[in-house]
This record gives sequence, C-alpha cells and structure tokens, in this order.
Amino acid sequence: MDISARTLKDAGAARTACAIAPVYPRKQLSGAAKQLDKRYRGIVSAAIAAGDIGGNAGDTLLLHTGDSKGVQRILLVGAGTRSKLDTAAIRKVIAAVVKGLRSCKAKDAILHAEELACDAVPMGALLEQLARTAEAASYQYTETLSKPRPGLATARLLVNCGEATKTAAANRALKLGKQIGEGINVARELGNLPGNICTPSYLANEARKLAKANSKLTTRILEEKQMRELGMGSFLSVSAGSEQPAKLIVMQYKGAAASKKPYVLVGKGITFDSGGISLKPGAKMDEMKFDMCGAASVFGTMNAVLAMNLPINVVALVAASENLPSGKATKPGDVVTSMSGQTIEILNTDAEGRLVLCDTLTYAERFKPQAVIDIATLTGACVVALGSHAHGMYANDDKLAEQLTAAGDSSHDRPWRMPLWDDYQKQIDSPFADIQNIGGPGGGSITAACFLARFTKKYKWAHLDIAGTAWDSAPKGATGRPVGMLSHYLLDRAGVKLG
Ligand code: BES
Ligand code: MN
Ligand code: ZN
Repeated sequence: MDISARTLKDAGAARTACAIAPVYPRKQLSGAAKQLDKRYRGIVSAAIAAGDIGGNAGDTLLLHTGDSKGVQRILLVGAGTRSKLDTAAIRKVIAAVVKGLRSCKAKDAILHAEELACDAVPMGALLEQLARTAEAASYQYTETLSKPRPGLATARLLVNCGEATKTAAANRALKLGKQIGEGINVARELGNLPGNICTPSYLANEARKLAKANSKLTTRILEEKQMRELGMGSFLSVSAGSEQPAKLIVMQYKGAAASKKPYVLVGKGITFDSGGISLKPGAKMDEMKFDMCGAASVFGTMNAVLAMNLPINVVALVAASENLPSGKATKPGDVVTSMSGQTIEILNTDAEGRLVLCDTLTYAERFKPQAVIDIATLTGACVVALGSHAHGMYANDDKLAEQLTAAGDSSHDRPWRMPLWDDYQKQIDSPFADIQNIGGPGGGSITAACFLARFTKKYKWAHLDIAGTAWDSAPKGATGRPVGMLSHYLLDRAGVKLG
C-alpha cells in the first residue's frame, strides 16, 4: 500500500474514494467531519442524529455521498471522548479505520488524522502504528491458490496530519511503519507456506536471496557436515529422521562499525514438527508447519532492519530442520553431546526446539553479542499459561527484559515475563546425562527456558516463547508476531525516535 502525508485545509474539497473522519460521543464532530457535513448537506449530522454511530472509540459507519467526482464515501470513525484520547483509543481507531476499508471497495482513501494526536501518542508514533497496521492489512496469501481471492481494495492512503505536523517528519514515521508492516508480512508469508515448500533448504535460499539484494548483508549456510565438525550433536539429533538436510543459516547485517557488538536474533526453524518418534496426535498436526514462525520472525525483522537501514550490527541465526520419525530417527532414551560439551538425554523427541536452539545459542557466542534474543514456538504449555495475547518472555538480564517490554508496549506486540528461577532447574536433571530434554508436567514453558538457560550463561539473553502468538487457528494464518516488537527494540537501540 502506498501511504503518504498531506496537509489539507478542507476535507470536503479533496477528491477521494473515501474520506475518513473522526467523530466523538455526544454528537461532537471533528473539524474534518464538520467540513464533510457542510459539503454534503448535513449527511454526517443526520447519521449521528439518527443514532447510527455513537462516537465510542472503534465505532464505524460508512456513508455514500453519491458524488463520484468529489468525496465518494465518508467513513466515520468513533474516537471516544476527545480529552481522553490515549494509546488504547488510538489503537481502536486505527483498527476500525482498517476494518472500515476492508468492508468497502475504495481504491484510495484520505484519513483526516490531525485531531487524533494526543499527549499519550505523539503524531509520529500514531503514524508509524497506522502505516504498520494498514500495510499488514493489505497482506493476502496467494502462493498455493490456483485463483487469487480478493483482498483489501485500498492501494493508496493519504494521511492529513494538519498544519502542526511537518510533512517530512510525518512521511518518515509512515515509512518506518510501512517497512515494519512489510517485515510482518514477510514473516506471515513464510509461516503460511506449507511444509513441502518451506523446507530448511527453502529458508536457506531466502537468506541467500536477501544477501544478494543487499550489500550490507552477508549470508553463510552451515551444512550438516560443518555442524558435525562443530560438535552440534544435539541439533543433528533432530534432523536425523528427515530426508531434508538441516541448515544453520547465518545472516550478518553490518550497519555500524565492525567494532560495535551485534544484537543476535536466533529463530527456531522447524519447518514441520511431527514430534518424531514421540509422534504427535493427528488432530491439528498440520499446524506444526508453523513451527518455524520464530525463524520467520527473524527473517521479517531482518527485512525491516534492511529497509530502515539501521546504524547497528545485527546477526540472525536460523536453526532449520524437520522433525520426522524414521529408522534413522533419534529415540527416547538416546543421549547426545551438544556443542557446549554438555550431554543431553532425549526423553521425548517432540521437545526438539530446545535441541536445535541450544547448539545455535552456543554458536552465537562467537559473535561476542551485545545481547541474544531467541524466538521460538517452543511449548504448548506457554499457550496454556498465556493464551494468544502475550509472548512468554524469559531473560537473564533485567535491563534487556525491560527494553523488550518497552518495545512490546510501543508496538502493541507485548511479552510477559516469566520466572527463570534456579528452583526449576532440578526438573531437568538426568541420571544418565548432564541434562534431560523434558521437565515433567509442571511449568513446561519454564523448564524449556531453563534448559536453554544452561547454554546462554556467557551473554545477555532473552527467550521469547511464541507458541501462542505466532499464528491464529481461526481463520488459520501466521500473525507475523513478534516482528513489530523486535523492530521497535532495534529501532530503540539505534536511537531512532518515532516523535
Ligand atoms: N512445537 C511444539 C510446541 C507447540 C505445541 C507450539 C503446540 C504450539 C502449539 C514443540 O516442539 C513441542 O512439541 N513441545 C512439546 C514439549 C513437551 C514434549 C515437553 C509440548 O509442548 O507438548
Ligand atoms: Mn515438538
Ligand atoms: Zn516444535
């Protein structure tokens, strides 16, 4: 979607397929709504007098003017009490704008946003959020459909920011939002692709393509042979049962001097998780194609970082493998040696995410990271604990956890911190190895994080369990989370202010 800022004096005079104007409770109109009401002889006030729209944040009403040469449609959006505008109200307004556009065929639209800025949400932050949400709303999955289905008709959105906002600054914020929105869509597309297309090799090729198109990015793919030489016995125990070779994908973005320590993102990229020999039940097993959504979010974030050209260094590591049963597959009770030297008793081959991640996290040490964040659809237990709203977050550093929380708030892609207490560690002690890969029925998301914590002692680290947030079941589809949060985290580290 093409999104840009304008300064318009009269909402009634601008030609458009759809003018979007805020209204407030108690029949109060925004300036733009008043201008439209005047131009179209009371159509807005008539609708309000009839009670068709109240003005609470998120209410919408679509009106047709019958004027094909001026303003064709008016989308009224309730913004709630004007003096009480806050983050939550703005979010509802933006969601309602996008939903309103989805419900009509307007090819272009003008959003009169000048009266939406408030102390809680400055114009820059509002515009970034608007562009991000609008761009994400224009995503449509088509790759494996023989006939594409119609998506959002709106291809061009003008935002009237009023005279108080400089157009250049407004356009900068809109551009950032659009770039993050595109990153979100990259993650959704990779997540949605079926497991027979999106294999570890497919992901490796995506990384190669990204590096080819960007001089600041280099890619290296570690094959199974190199992984064996590095001693990644844990990672390789997961791919043992699959015909598809595992890949450890390394992408290095250099936006700052080589002396600056990088932020490292690590994504779980299980392109299909059958459970292996500890086979999963059949119901909903198709959804385990989404078990690479952590990896997808790393790709999406790298796309956004490249587009935004951030002045920082970022390393992306994607641990890509299938998890399938076969005569060569790892069995419950097998003991493997990880790259760190720690031995692992594999009691359940379905707890495979931690097995590929632990070796990748050990590999991350060589980049002397500023911080390492891993993102993984790691445990069903996290879905039980937090549902689909919050990512489970674990961290061995309070400041890192606070920074991620702040980034989650500003992007409304929020994590919730969970305990990494030592008390839980004994649940994964094994009589036959240094560690076992499951911790019993209690605190499954926590013991998975505790497993990873044994491999991340050398740097500042956070783990995001996105099992509940990475995709929706109805309608089925990847959400692109937490690309919004990670992009905001990196924007903050780069010192970029949204204004
Ligand atoms: N990919 C799954 C986690 C998952 C399950 C995510 C359902 C989203 C929805 C992971 O590999 C897994 O199978 N975890 C097991 C761990 C258990 C065997 C300790 C789980 O959560 O059941
Ligand atoms: Mn599993
Ligand atoms: Zn899994």
